[in-house]
Amino acid sequence: MHTCVFKDDARKAYLDAEGKLDLAKVQARWTELGKIKVSLGNKYFTPAVVEKVKGLSDSDQQRFLDVMMGGLSNDDSSVGVYATRPEDYDVFSFYLEPLIREYHKIEGQTKQEHDWNIPVGEYVLTKIDSRLEKVSMRARVARNVKGWNLPPSMDKDERIRFENKMVEVFGSFGIPGKYHSLTPGHKNQITNQQADELRNKHFLFNDMTTDNHLTSSGVASDWPHGRGIWISEDETKMIWIGEEDQLRIISIVQGNDLGKVDQSLHELLSGIEKSGLEFAEHPIYGVITTCPTNMGTGKRQSILGKFPNITKGGTDEKKLKEVARSLGLQARGVGGEHSNMDKEGTADISPSARFGVTEAIVTKRLYEGLIKLYDMEVQAAGGNRQNCCIIY
Ligand code: ARG
Repeated sequence: MHTCVFKDDARKAYLDAEGKLDLAKVQARWTELGKIKVSLGNKYFTPAVVEKVKGLSDSDQQRFLDVMMGGLSNDDSSVGVYATRPEDYDVFSFYLEPLIREYHKIEGQTKQEHDWNIPVGEYVLTKIDSRLEKVSMRARVARNVKGWNLPPSMDKDERIRFENKMVEVFGSFGIPGKYHSLTPGHKNQITNQQADELRNKHFLFNDMTTDNHLTSSGVASDWPHGRGIWISEDETKMIWIGEEDQLRIISIVQGNDLGKVDQSLHELLSGIEKSGLEFAEHPIYGVITTCPTNMGTGKRQSILGKFPNITKGGTDEKKLKEVARSLGLQARGVGGEHSNMDKEGTADISPSARFGVTEAIVTKRLYEGLIKLYDMEVQAAGGNRQNCCIIY
């Protein structure tokens, strides 16, 4: 079995005898990794960046190393960096700014705007095909709260305090539901078996210590302390605590109107905001998230669909990923980010950009992308709609 490396061990390879950052070791590792795959973190580690890092204080140099640890430890990284605290986006802007622009395809100046005005009745999947009636539609936003470290650099105590702060919020924010904690000894602690049941329903996140991106970057440290999930009584609204971001605010709706899942998500988000929590925001980048891919809106919206023809019975998932990418979408397996697709080519499809677009545009892009993707699935089925993609 593949074993995961934790940040404190992994980072030692990039320190000198005195424990200071050794940039030559970092450079050598990026060069080695570049032969396999060039992540954005690798690409933007330029000689000019190295010069800037040399001018930073010792402690900021250590932070800079922490930011790169996910990329340095994983040869399959496409991004490879995580912020460790909200200020990283300013202190290390010479490195992170161009990377963010490339990922979100930003040209020129962009200041993040928010717009939750998403029409109900417009982005309706049955308009694409009348069989797309009961589709699993999901949307989430990533959020972190002002004044706290981001998950890669929280210590155990901070993780536990954060969880308890959220438990107070859940007690008062007005939507009926229940909190389930993974923290040993917590008053809401659930058993491993109950946790697995929640995973089988695709509600709860996976054991974070099995993902080397999360362990090597420190995101998974102190697992399972300070981790848990709040679930609404009707099981359509959820809040993850202590995964990649302090909070992942989620809505899952079975139906065909993409606007309805937004409505549900926005209701949940507003409920939390009214409780007085202030989220970490950047004047340009919008909401601050651990991974630069989520900056801006922090919103990821997806549907689960089957694409047996484009994927040739699930044997060619690369093809679906490629086609999706050409439409500004991302396709992944249903078991989470790095999971594989099944024989029916079941995939989770979402727009990639989350910064420089509004919440409303994310939904529009998903809908418009799906029209094209559906068309391509029909073509791959030789024009026979009966044999093709049933989004479920
Ligand atoms: N750090 C990983 C990589 O570079 C994940 C990037 C995007 N996904 C995420 N969950 N933030 O491939």
